[in-house]
This record gives sequence, C-alpha cells and structure tokens, in this order.
Amino acid sequence: MVAEKRKPGITDTSLRDAHQSLLATRMRLEEMLPALEIMDQVGYHSLEVWGGATFDTCMRYLDEDPWERLRQLRRGLKNTRLQMLLRGQNLVGYRHYPDDVLNEFIKKAVENGIDIIRIFDALNDLRNMEQAIYRTKAEKAHAQGTISYTTSPFHSIDYFVQVGLDLKNLGVDSICIKDMAGLITPYDAYELVGRLKKEVGLPVQLHCHYTSGMASMAYLKAVEAGVDVIDTANAALAMGSSQPATDTMVAALKGTPYDTGLDLDLLTKVSAHFEEIKCGYVIPDSVRGVDTNVLKYQIPGGMISNLASQLADLNAADRTKEVLAEVPRVRADLGYPPLVTPSSQIVGSQAAVNVLTGERYKMVSKEVKNYLRGQYGKPPGEINPELMKQVLKDEEPITGRPADLLKPQLAEARKEIEEYIEQEEDVLSYIIFPNVAVDFFKRRKGLLPPLEVVNICNKKNA
Ligand code: CO
Repeated sequence: MVAEKRKPGITDTSLRDAHQSLLATRMRLEEMLPALEIMDQVGYHSLEVWGGATFDTCMRYLDEDPWERLRQLRRGLKNTRLQMLLRGQNLVGYRHYPDDVLNEFIKKAVENGIDIIRIFDALNDLRNMEQAIYRTKAEKAHAQGTISYTTSPFHSIDYFVQVGLDLKNLGVDSICIKDMAGLITPYDAYELVGRLKKEVGLPVQLHCHYTSGMASMAYLKAVEAGVDVIDTANAALAMGSSQPATDTMVAALKGTPYDTGLDLDLLTKVSAHFEEIKCGYVIPDSVRGVDTNVLKYQIPGGMISNLASQLADLNAADRTKEVLAEVPRVRADLGYPPLVTPSSQIVGSQAAVNVLTGERYKMVSKEVKNYLRGQYGKPPGEINPELMKQVLKDEEPITGRPADLLKPQLAEARKEIEEYIEQEEDVLSYIIFPNVAVDFFKRRKGLLPPLEVVNICNKKNA
C-alpha cells in the first residue's frame, strides 16, 4: 500500500532538545515522569531523551544523576525507542575523549536504555564519528550518522550527499540532516532529502529548529520528498528556537497519503502536561519568536542569546551588533565550520575578543589555536593562510584522526575517584565533567549540602 509506505515517523524531542532550546535544559526528571505513560501510547518513531547538554545540566544544576534519569525514563517508556544525541568523539562534552572512554560510554548508554544514537561532528569530519558508529553497531544499537547542515561557499547539496555516502560506508543505519540553526529552506530540504533517498538509499531523518520560521515548511517539503522521520516537539515546547510542533505536523498530514496515523487527542494530552510545566518558567524572548538574524548572520539562535548575555556580563552589551557581524568573518577565516557545539563557542568567543580588543586576532584563544592545529578535525573549507602563519609559525598541523593522539583514560580515572564510586557509570561522568561530577558525588554522599535547584530560567517564584 503506497500510503503506508510514505507515512513519516515522528521523533518527539520534548524531553531533550525542546527544553534544551527553550528552558536552558533545566527540565527535571520529576517534571517528565507524569507524562511518560501517555507518551508511551502515542506510537512515536522514537523519543529523544538524553545526551546533548542534558548530561552536564543534570549534575551541574539539577543535582540529578544523568544515568539514573535514563534508567527511569526507560522504565516508564517500555514501548518506545529511546534516542540520544552524541557529539561524536566529544561524547556529551566539549573536547575529544580517547576510544576507551568512548567505547565504555556507548556501552553504558545502551545498557541503560538507549536504542538509537544520533552521532554528529561539528566539522562533518568522519574521523570524529567513525569509532562512535562502530561501537554503537557493536552494542547492537541503531547508529544514526549525521550531516551537520549549514550554508557557505563550501557547502552545497553535492557536498552533503557526499557526506551521506561516506556515512553509509561507515555502516550507519540511517542518516540525519541536522539543521541546528534553522537555515534549510523548504526547497533545499526537498532536494537534499530526495537526493539522499535516491543516492544513499538509507532512511533519512530531518531535524530542524524553528528559529528562522521555515522549519515546518521544510518538513512538509521533506515529507513530499520521502523523508522517513521528522523531529518535532509537543506544542507547548515547540517553535522559537525549538522544533516545529508535533501536533501541527500530525494535523497537517492527516487524511493525506502521508498521514502519520498518530492520535491527536493523545498528543493534546501530552502538550497539556508540558503546558503546565512551562508555566513554571519564564522563557526568554530571545528564544521564543522567529529570529531572522539567523539568516543574516547564520548564527544559531541559542548562540545569539548566549553571546548577548556574555557581552552584557562584560558591560559590553552595546558591542553586540559588532560582534554578531564579526562572527561570519571569523567563521570564514576558520574555513566555514558549521556553527554547533563546540565550533559555535570557539567562533563566538574569538569574534568577541576581536571586537573588544580593537584588533583582530591580537589575542587568539587556546581553542582557536588547537583548531588551527587540526585538533578538532578538518574544516570544510580553507583556513585563512595568514592567520595560520601568525598563530602556528612553523608548527605543522596534525593530519591524522585527532583521537589517535589521546591516551586511554578509564583505568586511571577510576583510581582517582575510587572513594565516590557507586556505579561504574560514575567514572564516565567524572572523566567528562571532572569538577562538576566530584561536587555531585560529594552531595550524593552528604559531604556537601544539597544543591538548591533554582531554574535560571528563571523558575517563577511559587
Ligand atoms: Co537540535
């Protein structure tokens, strides 16, 4: 039956990306648990519930063990595949980790309940994704290879199709187009999805942010081009810098050959739960509406609000416009990396330094130096040769896989925190966020007072 074949699946991101995008990742497990029973009946393709910034935030701000969160979500969601976002060799942190750490992390993620791992690299450098892909397959989970989408003189539909083909060669089960800034136009989405379907031949999933206001149109065109899965969030936590609304997409496709078959009444109940949760937060204006600056500066919405608040902290709020204008120039100097963690932070901070010191690259951050040394991988375009020369002098950048230079870390780390270990997973938490994890372990042992959980974002006074 043709209609059956065309119906797109829905990955709902309410428990990960949606609150990372709108509520600064502050949603607590206790705010999720009451919704699980209904969510588990919906029949989503999957629920994105873990990874990205949630791991850090759990321990740093919420006094929660991220592993325990995953186990409880698994217990409450028996019928639904659980998905996570993994930053390739960066795992859920901000630097590369050695392979022994990566292998153990993926093993534990799967053991605790993850079914699908979406693996990306900020530079689309496959060497930063390959080990994560192999390991995910070895653990018998679904390895989703990711194309980080951006626009630049070096990025084209041909380029992205080639990344898709390369990912297929590494053995991925499906391909995700990750449009973290909401830049993809409906017609580019149509063309890219159509070509990936035809030329790569794997299931294709589209992940967009609503930031520029184009995402639900991009989804509609992608559905017409045969996309297999789209990422959405419940209506209460949708739009703005989050995903298009699940309810809207399901309603839009109802009664067509692309009918998702999901029950709108159930979805309304899911949204009602999160509407109540949302009432406890003040959502900053900067992440709420449509922001077309993203098209002008090609900067993800989250990054604009971060930069603005960092500059305000430095009493330099009046320089925000100049910094935003400097970002695309720094990005060009660095060979047009897609702006996503960690490249967004690297480019954003350097742009701020360039403006505030009054001279471009008078000071160069450690991260930019390491980037120029090739430690983050290979940029899509050419790095400004003058900048290379100024910073590296005669030093040769590395050309191999960055993680090959890292020594195993697991055994030593286990020894370092022996006194705090209550589960094997603690060693991983410690390696990825050493200071944050130790403070968390101390609170867990009663050696430090419990964290007062104030949601920046500004939990309203009850
Ligand atoms: Co996202």
